[in-house]
Amino acid sequence: MTFSWLSSIIPVPGYLLSMAVFNFLWLCLLLLITGLGESKPTPAGCTLPSLLDATQSELQAGLRLGCFTSVELVQTYIHRINEVNSKLNAVLQINPDALKIAERLDWQRQQGRTYGPLHGLPILVKDLIGTYDRMETAAGSLALVGSKVREDATVVANLRKGGAIILGKTSMSEWANARSSISSNGWNARGGQTYAAYHEEQDPSGSSSGSAVATDLGLAFAALGTETSGSIILPSEKSNIVGIKPTVGLTSRYMVIPVSEREDTIGPMARTVRDAAIVLQVIVGEDAEDNYTLVSPFHHKYPDYTAACNLTGLQDKRIGIPRNVIATLPNFLGSTADPIIASFERAVAVMEEAGATIVEDANFTAYEALLRSETPQRVVAADMLSGLADYLSRLTSNPNHLGGLEDVRNFTQHSPGEDFPMRDTHLWDMALFAGMNNTSPDFWPVYQQALHFGEDGGLLGALSRDGLDAVILPSCAATSVPGIIGTPVITVPFDAFPAGTSIRYNTRGDLIDAAPGIPLGISFLGPKWSEESLIAMAYAFEQRTLTRRKLHREVEPRNQLLDLPNWNRSSCG
Ligand SMILES: *[C@@H]1O[C@H](CO)[C@@H](O)[C@H](O)[C@H]1NC(C)=O
Ligand SMILES: *[C@@H]1O[C@H](CO)[C@@H](O)[C@H](O)[C@H]1NC(C)=O
Ligand SMILES: *[C@@H]1O[C@H](CO)[C@@H](O)[C@H](O)[C@H]1NC(C)=O
Ligand SMILES: *[C@@H]1O[C@H](CO)[C@@H](O)[C@H](O)[C@H]1NC(C)=O
Ligand SMILES: *[C@@H]1O[C@H](CO)[C@@H](O)[C@H](O)[C@H]1NC(C)=O
Ligand SMILES: *[C@@H]1O[C@H](CO)[C@@H](O)[C@H](O)[C@H]1NC(C)=O
Repeated sequence: MTFSWLSSIIPVPGYLLSMAVFNFLWLCLLLLITGLGESKPTPAGCTLPSLLDATQSELQAGLRLGCFTSVELVQTYIHRINEVNSKLNAVLQINPDALKIAERLDWQRQQGRTYGPLHGLPILVKDLIGTYDRMETAAGSLALVGSKVREDATVVANLRKGGAIILGKTSMSEWANARSSISSNGWNARGGQTYAAYHEEQDPSGSSSGSAVATDLGLAFAALGTETSGSIILPSEKSNIVGIKPTVGLTSRYMVIPVSEREDTIGPMARTVRDAAIVLQVIVGEDAEDNYTLVSPFHHKYPDYTAACNLTGLQDKRIGIPRNVIATLPNFLGSTADPIIASFERAVAVMEEAGATIVEDANFTAYEALLRSETPQRVVAADMLSGLADYLSRLTSNPNHLGGLEDVRNFTQHSPGEDFPMRDTHLWDMALFAGMNNTSPDFWPVYQQALHFGEDGGLLGALSRDGLDAVILPSCAATSVPGIIGTPVITVPFDAFPAGTSIRYNTRGDLIDAAPGIPLGISFLGPKWSEESLIAMAYAFEQRTLTRRKLHREVEPRNQLLDLPNWNRSSCG
């Protein structure tokens, strides 16, 4: 299936070119009339959306009307990536076949064949997600450079079936942040340090750092990220975008480099809730290669996530606030907790105005105990020992002959580009030292203990005690409990640190994680499989606030569809 996309390359037919020439002439006429041309409708009814914020419906309308082609979209996104990548390092690799794939999809559109809402739209995927093509799948590491997966990850296969163009691989915290205790978010040996765009040296958070930054800056229509604990939600917050962390099992993890089979999940990162819902719709599904997907309640009839985007989504919803979780924020964040909490209270007021009932003190009763416990990390370590060995055994090419975590650690410690020991391998050292994998007899009781923090003592307890539809939290505090039990979270842009916020660096002292203008998000948490309801709430909240476009970036790409050489203004007339 995948192979056929890449192998059959069909040239652009003549009438498509003449269509482009026709549109080009209209555009030139328009430019002559108006003098300059930003997002002006042409007589043919064309609007060229700014790629910084272009939505699925704007892009599909432009493609359908022939205002631009997928080839032109790919070209422009590549220009935009090249404009900012030397500074921000968001993208590790551009798909060398992206233009050919776009040509083929343009041709199919001309034939009246489209594969759905993503037809012809370029999407970036995290370097952890397997692509059976000419790109690497390496989790940012040198250890896996040159390795080959035997087929596309199921989520990638689903994207291709849905007509999306895999534009490239995004940068990330190496090994999804499961290697070192002293590294920085968004750093990997393959691409170096990723930065977000709202402040000099901004910490992009992680581990799906590049997916977040690239989506924010319109380097593609959207991106896929992965989350074990926080890796979609936290970088989405810091880059002012929407991230959906789906229920574990809603999206297949097949051919994705694993951290923990109990916690890993693949999800969309987009600029609007609706666009994230559209991407989610395409990647969900049962997959015999990942049996966690087989216990979904949906059985081939998945909810319509796009239809859930409804302005009444917050009306009559019971939404809880775990005040004891919020009360711990100053312990971690010092004085920067104050603006986060103040912003959160404003978000609560918006939800009340939208018809939600707010339930105070929907506390996570075991949260303080969770903060002192290492049990959840032991579960992840055990899963990683088993899961990585399994992933490596499925590769069709494994140039460094890696059999498991021990080999990966040894390779990394001997590879100068891996910055060892300045960036250590502490998480692997601990996992190997503990020696407990997830088939060990010791594992099950540890796992049950961890579940308590998320179930009775955490989110599920709060939801059932107070009959809640959802729980809300500042996004920075929203991910540890859902991580343990595999429940969904959605973050929506809401605010930014105000003027006067004191600048705070990460623990390495090389990235700024709090400063005026750095974005803040609000997260919605629900029980397993509740994405439809969470999307409805997130959409209603987003539409009442629409803060994303109000924030100021330090870096923005300037290239737009208009700037392509064949639309060069100076050649008009
Ligand atoms: C999935 O399959 C594995 C063996 O391949 C088994 O150990 C596990 O219990 C199964 N999980 C589910 C949720 O069916
Ligand atoms: C929005 O959702 C409500 C409740 O689910 C439903 O009654 C209504 O018809 C929906 N509106 C639209 C425009 O879909
Ligand atoms: C919930 O947590 C808050 C903040 O720690 C605390 O003041 C309140 O008493 C708690 N409520 C319940 C019902 O435990
Ligand atoms: C898991 O550990 C057991 C010993 O407890 C060992 O026999 C087995 O090979 C290990 N499996 C993996 C995948 O590491
Ligand atoms: C560790 O890596 C080094 C360098 O790649 C290699 O020479 C050595 O054989 C490896 N040791 C083990 C135990 O695999
Ligand atoms: C547009 O044309 C001018 C003059 O010929 C040239 O300098 C410029 O590089 C062109 N722009 C693009 C995007 O190719």
